[in-house]
Amino acid sequence: MLRRNAPRIAAIAGATLLVGVVLGLGKAWYDSRLPGTYSVMSYGNTDYGGGSVPAGHAGHEGSAHGLSVSKLHGPQTGTPDARFALTAKAATIRLATGRAIEALTFNGSSPGPELRVKQGDLVEVTLRNEDVDEGVTIHWHGVDVPNAEDGVAGVTQNAVGPGESYTYRFRAEQVGTFWYHSHQISSEEVQRGLFGVIVIEPRDPSPTGLDLVAVAHTFDGIPTLNGNESPGSQSVPARAPVRIRLVNTDSVLHRFTVSGTPFRVLAIDGTDLNEPGPLGNVALPLAAGGRIDIGYTQPPRGVRVGIEGTGAAIGLSPYHAPAPGESPATSDFDPLSYGKPAPAPFTASSSFDRDFSLKITKKLGFFDGRPGRQWAINGGIYPDVPMFAVEEGDLVKVTISNDTDVVHPMHLHGHHALVLSRNGDPATGSPWWVDTLNIGPGDDYVIAFRADNPGIWMDHCHNLSHAAAGLTMHLGYSGVTTPFLIGSADHNQPE
Ligand code: C2O
Ligand code: CU
Repeated sequence: MLRRNAPRIAAIAGATLLVGVVLGLGKAWYDSRLPGTYSVMSYGNTDYGGGSVPAGHAGHEGSAHGLSVSKLHGPQTGTPDARFALTAKAATIRLATGRAIEALTFNGSSPGPELRVKQGDLVEVTLRNEDVDEGVTIHWHGVDVPNAEDGVAGVTQNAVGPGESYTYRFRAEQVGTFWYHSHQISSEEVQRGLFGVIVIEPRDPSPTGLDLVAVAHTFDGIPTLNGNESPGSQSVPARAPVRIRLVNTDSVLHRFTVSGTPFRVLAIDGTDLNEPGPLGNVALPLAAGGRIDIGYTQPPRGVRVGIEGTGAAIGLSPYHAPAPGESPATSDFDPLSYGKPAPAPFTASSSFDRDFSLKITKKLGFFDGRPGRQWAINGGIYPDVPMFAVEEGDLVKVTISNDTDVVHPMHLHGHHALVLSRNGDPATGSPWWVDTLNIGPGDDYVIAFRADNPGIWMDHCHNLSHAAAGLTMHLGYSGVTTPFLIGSADHNQPE
C-alpha cells in the first residue's frame, strides 16, 4: 500500500515545493515593485552606525512632525552678489567638427554656461524649464549647500515641469571646481547634456595666468573635451602659470594625460592639496563626477591635455606651436601618498560617534519587479537599503567596500569626506578630501566626515545607470523629514 503510494506522495511533495517556490518568487517579485509614489523616509532600515538612537527619531522611521527639508534653505534675503538664469531646453548643439547632437541644454549649450563666482558670494540661480517634458532640477555637485538647495527631485524639491521655475540661493563658501547637473532622471538628462561647471574663486588674489575648465563628456558615443572631439587649441604666453580644471561629467572613469610638461595636481574635488610635488608620465584617473585641478608653467613649446586613447584633447602653446602627441603614461596618479601631510580636523585615531559600513555586492533578486543580478547595499536590494542616521555634530566614519567586478564612483551629497585608508594602507600624503570616490573592484576605503549640514542627503554611485538600477541610499539627520515623494505618479525620479 505504502509502496504503491510512494510515487504519488513524491509527486505531491514535488508539486507542493514547486508551488511554494513559485509563490515565494511571486511574493519577492510583487514586493519589489516600487509604488507610484513613496517617501525615502519609509523604506529600508535605519542604520545608526553603532551610535546612539535619538528619542523620537529618525531616518526611515522619521515622524511627519520633524523638521522639513524645505525649512533648510540658503539665505532668503539679501541682494545676491552673483545672479544667473539657466533655462533648460532641447537644442541642437554642434561639436567642433560640425557634427550635430540633439541635446538637452542649459541656455542652448552643453556644457551649459560656466558659472564663476567668488568665495563668500551670495549666489542666486533661477532655473526655468522651457520644454523638458520629464522635468528638471539643478544639483550643485560638490558644493555643500543647505539641503533645500541641493536639487534632488523627490527628496529636496519637486521636479520643475515645463513652463515652471525654481530659484536656488546659497552662499559659496568653498573655493574650487564643482559642477551642476539635473537630478531628475539624471541617468538620461546628464548624459543628454543638462550639466555645466561652477568655479568658486578665492576672493583675492584673483587667479593670474590661464585658468581653464576642461570638461569631459561623451555625446552620442563620441568622447569630447569642452565639446571638441579632436584637439582644440588655446594660446597661452610662455612662462604663464596655467591651471586646468578637469571635470568628468560622464558615468565612466576617464584617464587624463598631460604631455609636454611636468605638472602638479593642485586640487581634488575642489579642495587644494598640501605641497603637491611635480609629476610626469602619469595618467590621472578621474572618477565619474570627480574633479582634478592641475597646474604647470607654460613652456615655450606646446602642451597637450587629453582623455587617454581618444582624440579629445586641448593643445596649449604660445606661438601656435603644435601640441605634442600623447605621451604614454607609465603609471597612474595615486592621491593616497601624494603631497605632504597637514593638520586635519580629525584622523584615523579620532573617536567616532558613528561607524558605518557600506558594502556593495551583486545578488540575485528582483529590482522594481525585474529579475536578475542586482546591486545590493549591505545585502539589500533597493529600496531595502539602509539609511545612515546621524545627529548634527557627529563625527562619522564609513567603510565602503566593493565586492563586485566594476568600479563604483560613490558620491555623498552635502559633505566632504577625508580619506583615511585604502585596503588597510593609511593615507600618508596631503589631506585628501573627496565628494566622489572611485571604489575599484575588491577595494575598501575608510573615509570620515563631520555631520555638519542637516538634511536628507543622497549617497549614490555616480555611474548614473548604476544609481538608476538601485545603487543609491541616503544619509538622514535626526529629526529631519521630507514632504516630497519619489515615483512616477509624482513625476519625481531622481536617478
Ligand atoms: Cu552629481 Cu547625486 O549627483
Ligand atoms: Cu556603480
